[in-house]
Amino acid sequence: MMRILVAISGASGVIMGIRLLEQLRGRTDLHLIITTTARQIITMETDYEVARVESLADHVYQNDCLSAPVASGSFLMDGMVVLPCSIKSLSSIAMCYNENLLTRAADVTLKEKRRLILGVREMPLHEGHLKLMLKLANRGAVICPPIPAFYSHPETISDLCDYFAGKVMDLLGIKHEVFKRWGN
Ligand SMILES: Cc1cc2nc3c(=O)[nH]c(=O)nc-3n(C[C@H](O)[C@H](O)[C@H](O)COP(=O)(O)O)c2cc1C
Repeated sequence: MMRILVAISGASGVIMGIRLLEQLRGRTDLHLIITTTARQIITMETDYEVARVESLADHVYQNDCLSAPVASGSFLMDGMVVLPCSIKSLSSIAMCYNENLLTRAADVTLKEKRRLILGVREMPLHEGHLKLMLKLANRGAVICPPIPAFYSHPETISDLCDYFAGKVMDLLGIKHEVFKRWGN
């Protein structure tokens, strides 16, 4: 079973991270970080309680716990997804400013040449945001903003979230039938 770390940071669209957890649950050994602001946004934007979101994962870490297993490259992980990824978290990852567990785990993921997927959520983007994304793309991260596709005829927000979760699972190499593929 793959071991995946999902981090939900403080950007709009926390429901996408939650839906990804729901899809990965049972298919992966699932590790989770929810930042302080993301906890607030979960309450603001969704009907979920934070405790219910945490119950989806096998292992939950506090973002200030820098002694957690995922802070070390010797703890084997298959990949990490930050969804949604705030500009602040994008920035700290790009600068290797490893003062919280999310950033440290992302930095470890990059140095160990493992899959790092960043669902950067901001709009519009200025030059500074774009440069940070380019820096991380050059370092091996997958920049994967939660941009919807319409060829699958989504009817609900849930459809859009499932499509994005499926795209992330494709990038992680996890087989699924969450959405209908073009050409099938
Ligand atoms: C309701 C709400 C929505 C936000 N949406 C975004 C967003 O979409 N993108 C972003 O970069 N920051 C957004 N922010 C600001 C971040 O939460 C803030 O920069 C925070 O420091 C991010 O910290 P974190 O990445 O550690 O969670 C939002 C804040 C709030 C309260």
